[in-house]
Order: sequence, then structure tokens, then C-alpha cells
Amino acid sequence: MTVEVGRPPALRSQLNLWKPLWWAYPTWVVTALSAFGIYAFFAMIQKAGFAYPYLSPFYSPHIVISGLPISPAFYVAWVPLGFRLTCYYYRKAYFRSFLWEPPACAVADRPGRYTGETRLPFVLNNFHRYFLYVTLVVLGFLWYDAIRAFDFHGHFGIGVGSGIMLLNVVLLSGYTLGCHALRSLVGGGIDCYSCSLAAQGRHRAWSGVSLLNNRHALWAWASMFSVAITDIYIRFLIHGVFADPRWVS
Ligand code: FES
Repeated sequence: MTVEVGRPPALRSQLNLWKPLWWAYPTWVVTALSAFGIYAFFAMIQKAGFAYPYLSPFYSPHIVISGLPISPAFYVAWVPLGFRLTCYYYRKAYFRSFLWEPPACAVADRPGRYTGETRLPFVLNNFHRYFLYVTLVVLGFLWYDAIRAFDFHGHFGIGVGSGIMLLNVVLLSGYTLGCHALRSLVGGGIDCYSCSLAAQGRHRAWSGVSLLNNRHALWAWASMFSVAITDIYIRFLIHGVFADPRWVS
């Protein structure tokens, strides 16, 4: 009779099933983030992201400083870039995929000493909360742009672009408002949620953020792709590839 000690059989078989595919997630992350980064860079250097009444999310808020030959997108790019780079979910994704520390569960780390986020540049990840504050302001501008996408020279209208812009800002809101730092901000540092009306309000806010937070990774990917798709759509309009189908009252 053989007595086996160690991992329970169910977990062991899960790991055995999973292990041959451990590379799938890092490969996906490297491919998707690299593709998005390259696309975003080329979209931002175009210096044009507006096809009336649609403004590309890469260019919002639209800041123009006369005399400076810099694309307006670069004045705001640091906000979403910093927010996503320091996001808890993306940290996990790029630590596993780009840095291999470790690339997956039950897979060995790359050789070398893991120093975590105690030194430059990764210690800067501790600024995530501050990126959140600025991102909330940018999110307000994106909502303004999405609402303005239904205004066609003073008349209410609905175009395919209006729908795309609205969907984009909803996905970005789901991602931003499900932030771990926001969850801690609205629900942390309190001992009793039922002791006052303000505390009860904070509990409701915390529950709402927690609901979004449950699918934070999904919101992260969906909102990243929606930003690219919105920009691609607007870029097609700018270059006259097709006209925006719309109804205007
Ligand atoms: S943790 Fe992901 S946006 Fe804050």
C-alpha cells in the first residue's frame, strides 16, 4: 500500500492540468499590452483626435499650448498611463509576464533576488492613490465628451460614435470606480459601519466599489480595448474611411 503525502489529489491534478499551459497568460499579457502601447503611441503622435462631435479618449481633456509643437495627447497621457502602470491588477500582470516573478502559479521564478516594490522604479507604484485622484478628474472630462457626442450643432442626435463613446466611458468608469485604492479610501479606517448615517453611507459606497472590484481585471481589459476601439473609430472618420451613421432630431 502506498501512502502519498503532499498536495491533495484534486489540487495536484488541477496543477498538472494547468502547468503545461502556464505560458498562455503571460503570452497574452505581453502581446496585448505591447500592441496597445504601440498603438497608443502612434495614435498620440498624430496630433489629431477630433471628428465632430467625437473626441478621442487619448486627447481628453483637450489641452493646446500655442507655440509648443507637441501633440495635445501627451499633456494628459501620463494620467491614464500612470494609473494603469500602478494598478494592482496590472502590476500582477506585468510582474508575471514581463518580469517573470513568477510567470505563473507553481512555476519557478526567474533566477535572481526579488526585491519587490521597495526600490526604484517599482517603489513608485505606491503613488497609485494619487494617480486615482487625477484620473477621477480626467474621468469627469470623458463623461463630458461622451455627453457632448450626442450634441450635433445644438440638436440632440445619436450616432454610432455616440454609442461607442458612451460605452467607452461606462467601461472606464467600471474600471476606475472598482479600484482597490478607492475601495480602501471609501471603506477603510472605520470601526463601525452602522453607528452613524455617514458611516452607513460609506458602507454603501464601499459595497458598490467592492461589486466592481470583484471583476477588476475584466474591467481593466475591457476598458483598455474600448479606448483603442474608440480612437480607431474616430480616426477612420478623420481620414474619411466612412461616414458616421447617425440620427439627428
Ligand atoms: S487597483 Fe486597479 S485601478 Fe486601482
